Amino acid sequence: MPHHRSVVEIILPEPSLVVLIGAAGSGKSTFAARHFAPTEVLSSDRYRAILAGDEADQSVTKAAFARLHRDLTSRLLAGVLTVVDATNVEPSARRALLVRARTAGVPALAIVLDLPDTIVLARNAARRPRTVDESVIHRHLARLRRSLDGPGPGLGTEGFAAITTLHDPTEVDQVVIRRDPGPLSPLDR
Ligand code: UTP
Ligand code: MG
Repeated sequence: MPHHRSVVEIILPEPSLVVLIGAAGSGKSTFAARHFAPTEVLSSDRYRAILAGDEADQSVTKAAFARLHRDLTSRLLAGVLTVVDATNVEPSARRALLVRARTAGVPALAIVLDLPDTIVLARNAARRPRTVDESVIHRHLARLRRSLDGPGPGLGTEGFAAITTLHDPTEVDQVVIRRDPGPLSPLDR
């Protein structure tokens, strides 16, 4: 029997930190480009490209994340909504983001692209010019499963104000994102 899920609506407080979570090839960058302005998105691949001239150069991963974290802190302290486009399948990777949101007093929201393994692998295989090694994707998928289903404390205990998990391409395509600017300040009245 087909699933009949209703359209998923995500309400984003402004400012907030939006953490995309998903294996390589799950569609994080596509999702970010569709729903957010380019300047709102901090992408680990983009920092690799800036530092090494190649968005796939893993040798600059540490430096890339150092810059991403630095810019994330600046943006959240400035009170602007920021999206982190990285796999974020490791608890430690998420922790590094959550701690910065907490310091800035900004809520963190997770959007999880939990698509079927077959779809992620097929998208990766079809990808040009860059495909990621399948073993890497299998590792990402396993880390994500563990974060969602355990064993271990899991995503729900990490401090996200909300977690939206998207399970299939239709659900991803139909997502509606609304921004909640919060109560009007006295100056706006
Ligand atoms: P992305 O490049 O968006 O994945 O899509 P990603 O999660 O950001 O991957 P990493 O972590 O940077 O490696 C991967 C492939 O899937 C296709 C894209 O065109 C791209 O070739 N795709 C993505 C679709 O065909 N449909 C979608 O809805 C999303
Ligand atoms: Mg990407």
